Amino acid sequence: MVKDLLKSVLPTRIADALRVLLHGHENQTDEFTYDHDGLRTIHNCDFISDPRFIQAYRAGRSLDSWFGGDVEWRVHVLFWAAVRGIELEGDFVECGVHRGGFSKAIIEYIGFGKRQDKTFYLVDSFEGIAEEHLVEAEKEKNLLAFPYQHNYEAVLNAFAEYQNVKVIKGWVPEILSEVDTRVAFLSIDLNNALPEIAAAEYFWERLVSGAAIVLDDYGWKQHFVQKQAFDEFAARKGVPILSLPTGQGLIIKP
Ligand SMILES: C[S@@+](CC[C@H](N)C(=O)[O-])C[C@H]1O[C@@H](n2cnc3c(N)ncnc32)[C@H](O)[C@@H]1O
Repeated sequence: MVKDLLKSVLPTRIADALRVLLHGHENQTDEFTYDHDGLRTIHNCDFISDPRFIQAYRAGRSLDSWFGGDVEWRVHVLFWAAVRGIELEGDFVECGVHRGGFSKAIIEYIGFGKRQDKTFYLVDSFEGIAEEHLVEAEKEKNLLAFPYQHNYEAVLNAFAEYQNVKVIKGWVPEILSEVDTRVAFLSIDLNNALPEIAAAEYFWERLVSGAAIVLDDYGWKQHFVQKQAFDEFAARKGVPILSLPTGQGLIIKP
């Protein structure tokens, strides 16, 4: 109310100056601290210059999984979820691996290779998306034409040094029975709704309490079918989804 009153009585320039005084910043483009991957902000992102972050992020980036783009903030979110997961009982799963960028970064960040009590399952068709999994609205978004650069052998090589990483080649949902385990961290990044929901349903009872599910595509415009499907999923399970400015969605298993 006070805001509206100020707006109506003060000239715009004075109101802007007051806003700067109150909030300590101006909306000037040269103040952006982060400006890629669909996210532009003036907020602090000093995690980017943490040496541990830099080393792990570079390891992930070196696999050419992200089409030359930078996705630091998304990776920061994944690291947060992984740090949480490593303290819980259970294994790690990524559905949608491509060339292994996210998984490699996570493994390096938390030293997963040394955790022989845990397994990291990397699940992918390594052949892209199945046409029969798409609904019309997804076909219209041209999801089938996405130029994945799969190289199954290269993924096997990239993870060969870790005894506790299993690369599982096959289609979700059919292949999921090969990952029958308690889960402490789940990343879902399949870029199409049907198998993503099937994976979330399959792992729901297997997820330990406190484990995070990171939905990579939740807020991305071209993946609105997934958003609708996950909103319904979350309502069925009685959990909220945190919609992140990175485009990701975050669920914590109660
Ligand atoms: C966006 S990419 C994953 C990117 C990856 N998270 C990374 O770090 O670069 C999506 C992946 O999902 C896989 N995929 C899509 N639908 C699938 C399905 N039904 N079963 C298995 N893999 C699938 C594709 O082959 C592709 O590698």
